[in-house]
Amino acid sequence: MPQKEAEDPSSLRISPPLSEDGAAVHDLIAACPPLDTNSLYMNLIQTTHFADTCALAREDGDVIGWVSGHIPPREPDVFFLWQVAVGEKARGKKIPKRLVADIFSREACRNVKYLKTTITPDNEASWGLFRSIARWLGAPLNESEFFDKERHFKGRHDSEILVTIGPFELPASL
Ligand SMILES: CC(C)(COP(=O)(O)OP(=O)(O)OC[C@H]1O[C@@H](n2cnc3c(N)ncnc32)[C@H](O)[C@@H]1OP(=O)(O)O)[C@@H](O)C(=O)NCCC(=O)NCCS
Repeated sequence: MPQKEAEDPSSLRISPPLSEDGAAVHDLIAACPPLDTNSLYMNLIQTTHFADTCALAREDGDVIGWVSGHIPPREPDVFFLWQVAVGEKARGKKIPKRLVADIFSREACRNVKYLKTTITPDNEASWGLFRSIARWLGAPLNESEFFDKERHFKGRHDSEILVTIGPFELPASL
C-alpha cells in the first residue's frame, strides 16, 4: 500500500485545474524541457474536459507543478499519465507524487490498478521519478515498445517507451 505523505507546512496547494489555469499550465510546460509543448487550446481542454484526472500545484498563488493524464477509453483500470512538470525551483520536494496521490484519491480513479506513462530513453529525471513512484505504490515496473522513433515519429522525435506500474491497490486513506 502506498504510504501517506507527510503534512506540508508550506503554502503548497494541490487541486484539480480550472479552465482559467490553462495558460499557466502552458507556460510551466514551456519552462520544463524536454517536455513537448502543445497548443494552449489543448491545455484548455485538459483543464476542462480532463480536470478530474489532472492536478495542479500552487505555491503563493503561482502554478509550480502539473500532472496531466486520463483514463484510456478501452482501459478503465489504467491511469495514463501524459506529462509531469515541476518548476525548477520547486524540484526535489516530491511534488509529483503528491499530485498523483491527489488524482488517485478522486472518484474518477476508483477502478485504477495500473499507472502507465511513456518515457524517452535519455530522460533520467523521468526514469528516476517513475521508479520512485513504483516503489511508493509497491508495484512492479515493466517496459515495452509504444511509439517508435521511425515507425511513429518518422524520425522527428525519440522513441517513447511504455512504462506500466502495477497492479496496485489504491490506499483507503487517499
Ligand atoms: C521529472 C520531474 C517532474 C521530477 O520532479 P522532482 O520534483 O525533482 O521529483 P521528486 O522530488 O518527486 O523526485 C522523484 C524521484 O526522482 C528522482 N529524480 C529527480 N530528478 C532526477 C534526475 N535529474 N536524475 C535522476 N533522478 C532524478 C529523485 O531522486 C527521486 O527519487 P527518490 O524518490 O528515489 O529519491 C522534474 O525534473 C521536471 O519537471 N522535469 C522536466 C519535465 C520532465 O522531464 N517531465 C517528465 C516527462 S513527462
